[in-house]
Amino acid sequence: MKSTENINLEKTKARSVKGIITSIATREGAGFAVRRPFPTQSLSLVDPFLLLDHMEPVTLAPGAAKGAPDHPHRGFETVTYMLEGHFVHKDSAGNSGVIGPGDVQWMTAGSGVVHSEMPDEELVENGGRLHGFQIWVNLPAKDKMMAPRYQDIPSAQIPIAESEDGRVWVKVVAGQSLGKEAVIDTRTPITFLHVKLQPGASLNQPLPPHFNTFAYIVEGKGYFGNEKLPAETDQLVLFGNDGDHACLQASDFEPVSLLLLGGLPLGEPVARYGPFVMNTQKEIVQALHDYQNGRMGVIN
Ligand code: CO
Repeated sequence: MKSTENINLEKTKARSVKGIITSIATREGAGFAVRRPFPTQSLSLVDPFLLLDHMEPVTLAPGAAKGAPDHPHRGFETVTYMLEGHFVHKDSAGNSGVIGPGDVQWMTAGSGVVHSEMPDEELVENGGRLHGFQIWVNLPAKDKMMAPRYQDIPSAQIPIAESEDGRVWVKVVAGQSLGKEAVIDTRTPITFLHVKLQPGASLNQPLPPHFNTFAYIVEGKGYFGNEKLPAETDQLVLFGNDGDHACLQASDFEPVSLLLLGGLPLGEPVARYGPFVMNTQKEIVQALHDYQNGRMGVIN
């Protein structure tokens, strides 16, 4: 089966492109550099996604690796996907783990955790490569105060789908692609794919029309949507809700690596303040109060 034949294109419609957003360079945590397509002035969120941070591929000198020491979260989920280097995760719910290349950690903060995300000792002492992503996924109002949950999925457990000719490669973190189904459990319907296309290769990925959907170009150049608009490294392609599949195509001259994210919009009010994302300002004040009074716990 060729990748383009995974759906009957005659009976379906490709999504248009609503916008192409270039990410901004900023700093996070203790001062590590990230590229951020949203939230920015031009795009505040892609409901239910609240934030995308790309820790761009870098070679760090000894002592230069920085992380995000103890900080709280309430009301949403943080998803970490590493491509190079190792991060050590600890939280006040008693979870800890090391996230390495290809691994995904899906942390549901729910009612609140204190969280620490730091480069491992080896990376701090000797320096080395670092490359990864963090994505914030909002929780529906009914789940914002749920008990914290932690899913640590090693790369080997995450399904990989490939076209027969090997020119389309998809890591299925959430949702499904080319007949493979993800192992991660999400609170609301989410598709999270890491797609690599060889020069000229394409994928028509089905996504329900009501899913808000975007592609973030990790590296390379491609053509997107029914208009085949060009986008390249560090740009985000926001798809319209006017079709049932997203057209992704690599340039004829270079491969493209991208994240494709889609999700059912919650359609609820968003009140956000730093690491807290609730529905009302009053709930934000409560979250701050609870954190300051130690109700989100401490990391042992
Ligand atoms: Co965190």
